Amino acid sequence: MDDRPIGVFDSGLGGLTAVRRVRRVLPAEDVVYLGDTGRVPYGDRSAATILRYASEDMDFLLGQNVKAVVVACGTVSSIALHTLLDRGVPVVGVVLPAAERAAALTKNGRIGVTGTAAAIRAGAYAAALKKRSPGSETLAVACPMFVPLIEGGSTASGEALLEAAAEEYLAPIRDFGADTLILGCTHYPLIAEIIRRRVGSGVQLVDVAAAAVDEMKKLLTEKGALAERDRPGSLQCWVTHSPGRFAALAGRFLPGPDTLRVRQTAL
Ligand code: DGL
Repeated sequence: MDDRPIGVFDSGLGGLTAVRRVRRVLPAEDVVYLGDTGRVPYGDRSAATILRYASEDMDFLLGQNVKAVVVACGTVSSIALHTLLDRGVPVVGVVLPAAERAAALTKNGRIGVTGTAAAIRAGAYAAALKKRSPGSETLAVACPMFVPLIEGGSTASGEALLEAAAEEYLAPIRDFGADTLILGCTHYPLIAEIIRRRVGSGVQLVDVAAAAVDEMKKLLTEKGALAERDRPGSLQCWVTHSPGRFAALAGRFLPGPDTLRVRQTAL
């Protein structure tokens, strides 16, 4: 038994898809969330910058006495995960659990991958799929406008831009005939409906943060490190910029009893 919190980080709002999953499958766990909103988006930055940001994010969570970390960012998981593994706590990224899930779901062996420019350039999802599902074909597409538009909140012009960007990015996936689509950036489930309209309702969408949290649950169960308490787990949110704005947007994505206390920190 270990009652210390689970740490979760992302560049911004997207990692809340992991928190949503923790609430569902590990309801007694406390969570400390870090969204690096002062430096979002990560996905158009160099690998060297992403490595540095990832290390600073990790240092912050370790300073919060977390027992484990979910790297709820496809970009960091694709580029920097290997540098975060020897820090004394179990760490789970999103790429491998997502590839395993997609491999289990596909029937026609055609798997689409979406992600930030940096994540797609790194090729980690495609490489993981090659191992987990050697017979399948993969089409990976970068969707660079999605994160800035999602972080911008929902405005009429933002929605119109999102629809247009989705058409441009996802038409090739539709033409490819994928029956399974990895939403390789944790922000993307927040626009699942827009994505679904473009690829068709028959395509299975893989929520990569949910896959990672399920993997973390397995790991903590095996280690006997789950929390045991008779109250629901708490959520502490930290951001590096605009806590009020984060709280307002996050409320839309985290339905349920979480009262959002968002504080600002420097990294
Ligand atoms: N949610 C992050 C990811 O999964 C977004 C990265 C970004 O800030 O561009 O890749």
